[in-house]
Amino acid sequence: MDASDIQSDLSDVLYTADQIQNRLNELAAEIEADYAGRDLLLVGVLNGAIMVMADLSRSLKRHCEMDWMAISSYGSGTQSSGVVRILKDLNTDLSGRHVLVVEDIVDTGLTLAYLIQNLKSRNPASIGVMAMFRKPEALRSPVEVKYIGYDLPNEFVVGYGLDYAGRYRNLRDLGTLAPHVYS
Ligand code: IMP
Repeated sequence: MDASDIQSDLSDVLYTADQIQNRLNELAAEIEADYAGRDLLLVGVLNGAIMVMADLSRSLKRHCEMDWMAISSYGSGTQSSGVVRILKDLNTDLSGRHVLVVEDIVDTGLTLAYLIQNLKSRNPASIGVMAMFRKPEALRSPVEVKYIGYDLPNEFVVGYGLDYAGRYRNLRDLGTLAPHVYS
């Protein structure tokens, strides 16, 4: 669905589907150049990264493999705690692989910091991170994100894979919710 389909649910559209896709094409070109001559394994974090993984991988004009992890962050409501449980692990052995973690959004960075530490212990040849969105003001853990789509203000956002109470993942655009949706 598009923002126009659920207009009254949204306060603002921050990035349209077209803007997101254009930025992804630029990032894909950077990734192609940086990983030239190396096999590439994209690791997506379920469920939020589904859309960015689908679009980034198809923007790449080269081969790549894809694998998925599902993790659950212990936290209350919209707050991340950084204490993470693996619900579904990778099927791929990471030793000697060039891994690019594909994330929907880096908020506090706590989930990503845990994930990177966990993946590093599996002896990959390299680990990089691509995140479609980042909230620099919310960052509480120093994680290096090499490829960033867009920096956002420190507000809760939905769409393009990101949910509120399980909804809005299928919104093509990225937006903020109108106050009446929360109440
Ligand atoms: P972090 O550990 O605080 O960086 O956040 C990790 C996860 O929380 C992200 O991968 C998202 O799934 C979720 N998240 C963080 N901020 C938002 C938001 O604004 N909207 C929806 N989900 C979010």
